[in-house]
Amino acid sequence: MSELNKIALQILSNGKGILAADESNGTMTKRLDAVNIPSTEENRLFFRQTLFSSESMKDCIGGVILYDETINQLSSSNKTIPAMISETGAVPGIKVDTGAKILANSPEEKITEGLDGLRERLKKYYELGARFTKWRGVYNISKKYPSKLAIHTNAHALARYSALAQESGMVPIVEPEVLMDGDHSAEDCLNKTSKVIEKCFEDLILNKVDLTGIILKPNMILAGNQSKNKISNEEVSLKTIECLKKSVPSEVPGIAFLSGGQSEIEATENLNLINKNNNTNFIMTYSYGRALQQSALKFWSKDIKDIKGTQNVFNHRAKMCSLAAQGKWSNELENK
Ligand code: 13P
Repeated sequence: MSELNKIALQILSNGKGILAADESNGTMTKRLDAVNIPSTEENRLFFRQTLFSSESMKDCIGGVILYDETINQLSSSNKTIPAMISETGAVPGIKVDTGAKILANSPEEKITEGLDGLRERLKKYYELGARFTKWRGVYNISKKYPSKLAIHTNAHALARYSALAQESGMVPIVEPEVLMDGDHSAEDCLNKTSKVIEKCFEDLILNKVDLTGIILKPNMILAGNQSKNKISNEEVSLKTIECLKKSVPSEVPGIAFLSGGQSEIEATENLNLINKNNNTNFIMTYSYGRALQQSALKFWSKDIKDIKGTQNVFNHRAKMCSLAAQGKWSNELENK
């Protein structure tokens, strides 16, 4: 078993998943503005270290994705943030792309940047304690999108990033996110997501990436958020499995879904059904940002000194996600 494969399994096994706490300062400011908390460096750290020191880290969180600001911060007990995370048994990770920019010659689409100087940045992050990385490609969906150009350019970037991450001894999370915005059908989402993922693997293989040492982070297969033809949670799970079965090579150890704007309960229920119906060899778990943090953030904003109370809310959510990652969640458990 390669070292990279071991890291991937440490992150994903035993009902654990990933806490995506790598919101850029811009995104984090939006999240904090929404609950009327000033987005200062201190507040961003305070909220995040409240989560990282929660009880549920030990059993439910296998990895935490950090943003550049956070990986360089010290906790209030004067520990580095990666050290604080490692002590819980979770693996510290880092977002290494520098954001999605307008794609030249297709201005309604995006290309994710960050390849220049990446080898040097990766070396620095490894020294700071990171053992896995994240890069997110983002795709609009409509009749004409994603274009072939967006599919090709983002796959190229994801593959070059992945090769560099593995060269530095870190597991790359490959995140091609087909957005849920729009009035498209679930069938469209299935077809387009499959194309996007298949192209990613074509380029990963071309770049000689070790597929046993990556984690795929895709969207679930959903009808667009403006669509009149929503499908049931059961259908979401079946279509998601169908998509991954045909587009992901079997060497990949695991798949960790993004929540993508689903509510906490929706993201939990869909993951639970995916695991109940999982007839593949892939571990299927979570790499949630909003669907792990939303309630905790709301609670915290009412009294930012209430660390225990905030942690209780987070622990509950993490526990529910962990049960869903094992197909053992049920709605009744939400109110216990
Ligand atoms: P959400 O779960 O909020 O979609 O965030 C996951 C993530 O890391 C997006 O890049």
